[in-house]
Amino acid sequence: MTADPGSMLGAPIAVPRVLVVDDSEINLKLMEVYLRQGGYEVLLASDGVAALEIAKTQQPQLILLDVRMPGMDGYAVCEKLKSSQLTKDIPVIFITADTNDDSESQAFAAGGADFIPRPVKRAVALARVKAHIDAYAQRRSLEGMFRDVLEFAPDAFVLTDARGLIVQFNACAERLFGYERQELLGTPLERLVSQCLQGGQSSTQCHRKDGTLFPAEVSFAPLQTNRGILNMAVIRDVTVRQQFENDLQTSRQQLRELAAKREATREAERKHIAREVHDELGQILTALRIDLSVLKIQLANDNPLMEHRLQNMKDLVDQGIHAVRNVAVSLRPSALDMGLVPAIEWLCDHHAKHSGAKFEFRPAEDNVAIDEVRAVIIFRIVQESLTNVARYAKASRVTVTVERRQNELYVMVKDDGQGFDVETIGQTKSFGLLGMRERAIALGGVLEVDSTVGHGTQIVVKIPVDTIQKQEVP
Ligand SMILES: Nc1ncnc2c1ncn2[C@@H]1O[C@H](COP(=O)(O)OP(=O)(O)OP(=O)(O)O)[C@@H](O)[C@H]1O
Ligand SMILES: [Mg+2]
Repeated sequence: MTADPGSMLGAPIAVPRVLVVDDSEINLKLMEVYLRQGGYEVLLASDGVAALEIAKTQQPQLILLDVRMPGMDGYAVCEKLKSSQLTKDIPVIFITADTNDDSESQAFAAGGADFIPRPVKRAVALARVKAHIDAYAQRRSLEGMFRDVLEFAPDAFVLTDARGLIVQFNACAERLFGYERQELLGTPLERLVSQCLQGGQSSTQCHRKDGTLFPAEVSFAPLQTNRGILNMAVIRDVTVRQQFENDLQTSRQQLRELAAKREATREAERKHIAREVHDELGQILTALRIDLSVLKIQLANDNPLMEHRLQNMKDLVDQGIHAVRNVAVSLRPSALDMGLVPAIEWLCDHHAKHSGAKFEFRPAEDNVAIDEVRAVIIFRIVQESLTNVARYAKASRVTVTVERRQNELYVMVKDDGQGFDVETIGQTKSFGLLGMRERAIALGGVLEVDSTVGHGTQIVVKIPVDTIQKQEVP
């Protein structure tokens, strides 16, 4: 597949050469004059043997061939030209006085491209010569371009014969494997590629000359050629791509771990603040309330204004106690201290109170208990799902299931609301579903979102059981 890189850039076009073959001296002279006037370089032969020799050595772009010649006639010369690799592509135009159907068929059967009738008219001859030379040049340039494309392609191309022996390969293959051409021709493809399938594509290991291996994608395809069926292997080195994929994978994993760590820290902080607020502030407010009650009894008996003031203060303290509870619960529901199932049950009750939908909670028969960190993560997923239901679903019925199924914990939040297009939402910047999915992955599980517009939404979380410890119901 050696090719001249310069030909890709368009080498200067030489004056086209035309070989004229005729046993008559006068005819040869006449055609020479016409062709030279047309701007062609002219080669002359007065018999078939000389014509074959000149065609082979001088490679004209066109041959004008007299049919009737002593010895080898024009048809025989044409057949010989067509049977040689060196001359088979050169177009041949016959010059003949016989333009009946038989002689035309015979000429085409011999491989001729066209006719010029005798007596030869200058304009007709030049027009036909030009048409065939242009077509030939175009064909050659396309073939050349195609060879160049293969030769300088960024992938390695290796051609093997029916026995699997290498017959040709391009510059990229030479570079990729580190062999000289002569070293590889005639050797089996297995020397380069570990796994050689017939047809199709495979990812495999390839061997360089220096003994090193590299990962590659190899596609095989049969190729019909004038040497019979050959096999084309296209080999792409995927070392860099694999490295990128590995790096990307590692980076995603690190991001996931970072997010999980930050989430765990945030949960611990929430728990701490919820306790502080509930215990410290709650105790202070409760003590204040008791003191106000005592004061009210002791001071307000004969003083309605004082009684009114003290009652207002008590009401304010009650509101404070209520607000403290709300803040503590929204930071971290105390039901979480009792385990995952009670916490989700509390969540369902809470949502049922604030929505018009009917809630059904189907808890696991035996209380699957998991460590607190994981329980909080699953709780947050369910909480996020129920927040979405409340915000968007317009559902009339919501079912929450927590089950242990063989080797996994199965949690489902299902509503019969208006649903949404999962594909479209996946392309927008909403982090609720994304965060839920990442949390599930961080637990070694998966999150499946199934929604159809008009037919509700179902969110399923599956966490492998080996991350779950069985625990007695508290
Ligand atoms: N149960 C549901 N019913 C109907 N639509 C839903 C439901 N859950 C999610 N969606 C749709 O999917 C979108 C994405 O939800 P997601 O929770 O990822 O983001 P968000 O709620 O819009 O924003 P964020 O959760 O980040 O505050 C929502 O905007 C809503 O259109
Ligand atoms: Mg959301």
